[in-house]
Amino acid sequence: MSLAGTNLAILGLQWGDEGKGKVVDLLSPRFRHVVRFQGGNNAGHTVVVDGVSIALHQVPSGALHPGCFLVVGSGVVLNLEVFQQELDRLSARGFDLSDRLLLSEKAHIILPHHIALDQWREVRADKVGAKIGTTGRGIGPAYEMKAARMGIRLGDLRHPETLAERILPGYEEVRIRLGADAPLPSLEEVVAGLLRISAPFMRFIGDAQGHLQDAWGRGESILFEGAQATLLDIDHGTYPFVTSSNCSLGGLFTGTGLPPKAVDKVLGIAKAYTTRVGAGPFPAELLDATGERLRQVGREFGTTTGRPRRCGWFDAPITAHACRTNGVDGLAIMKLDVMDGMDEVGLIVGYRTGEGTLTTKLPSCAADWQDLRPEVRMFKGWDTTRGVTDPANLPTEARAYLDALMDSVQVPLTYLSTGPDRAEGYVVPGTVLEPLLGGLSG
Ligand code: GDP
Ligand code: IMO
Ligand code: MG
Repeated sequence: MSLAGTNLAILGLQWGDEGKGKVVDLLSPRFRHVVRFQGGNNAGHTVVVDGVSIALHQVPSGALHPGCFLVVGSGVVLNLEVFQQELDRLSARGFDLSDRLLLSEKAHIILPHHIALDQWREVRADKVGAKIGTTGRGIGPAYEMKAARMGIRLGDLRHPETLAERILPGYEEVRIRLGADAPLPSLEEVVAGLLRISAPFMRFIGDAQGHLQDAWGRGESILFEGAQATLLDIDHGTYPFVTSSNCSLGGLFTGTGLPPKAVDKVLGIAKAYTTRVGAGPFPAELLDATGERLRQVGREFGTTTGRPRRCGWFDAPITAHACRTNGVDGLAIMKLDVMDGMDEVGLIVGYRTGEGTLTTKLPSCAADWQDLRPEVRMFKGWDTTRGVTDPANLPTEARAYLDALMDSVQVPLTYLSTGPDRAEGYVVPGTVLEPLLGGLSG
């Protein structure tokens, strides 16, 4: 089926790690271009092919399909050293990107002192109990430098003679904050390292905005791959326990330079339960054996940092908020199989405030989350859904749980994932995205 002219955004609806990588990999063969538009190597998107798992951090998850042209947009912050490692790993597995990769000249570069500042700040914050639990990859400082007009963009690499002067102000600020004894490379070493690492990338740097506008104008299909998720969005997430970019739909437009009408449909990705890495509000969190079970069975350990993910039941208020924020047309529910074999499963339908009122509204202030207690509705568990590719084979209890879940967020289920592999899952017949996704499974 041709998808010419149909552009799809794939966005996380919880706190990340929903399974965006699997869905992007699955859909990529139907798209000509796959685009990352925000975030950096804080992202970890895992794709499983024939039982072999491949983790991608900055390379778009369309990488495993030779027909996909890969674009990194202006909203991304890039660690070029890590990018090179990713390219090398892909190349060792036979995936050559050399003729199908474009990096926006407007994308910003993560520099060693950004990473040092991120880690220094977290250590200090920890002492006063205010740690965010960042990935320590320099993401926040790289975006700060961008906003402070002290960032270095990929296009700046074309003027190597200006780099020391351009990097100096931001470098000095970090130096002052960290103190003279901080183990930072010298400015000369930062510049020399950047020139060395960036040399192989020069041929990939170009006008990504123009490329995408032309592709859109020609009616070529574009898949937009979100990183992180709405509850980590710097404006619409659980601030300050968020990342430093707009991971919801708005970030797609600033991060590519395409207008809203270039996106035809939005597919939201959520797990059948909820996880979060790092600190911050999480009313659904299960600090007991059930949470531990979800973590072990779901292998809920960070793709990027290896940290254990906090686990809890599906949280309808946060996911409904994410659906509304992004105008989600259809849902992909992932990892239902992880709940297989449980006697009962829970769904957070709202929160009780300190006064006992039931609400589904999210506080905008971190302090207000503390009083909220989850209102849980329990459902009978089921035997197995692992590898189910036909809705008729879904156990009745699992169907009842999914129906209630859909009802709670008011968005139809479009894709159900029942295992990490490409073949494990199915497209729900008759849903709004079926023309786009139909024929993927079975
Ligand atoms: P992303 O950051 O949203 O791309 O998600 P991650 O890759 O960080 O984490 C999702 C993890 O769940 C990966 O290890 C996937 O291979 C795995 N996964 C995806 N879908 C399913 C599923 O339906 N069932 C199970 N058991 N694992 C899945
Ligand atoms: P993907 O794309 C889950 C979290 C960190 C921390 C907060 C800020 O794989 O879903 P940062 O390093 O971005 O300044 O950290 O955001 N975080 C993620 N959590 N999945 C991710 O990406 C994440 N990227 C950042 O754990 O709480
Ligand atoms: Mg991830």
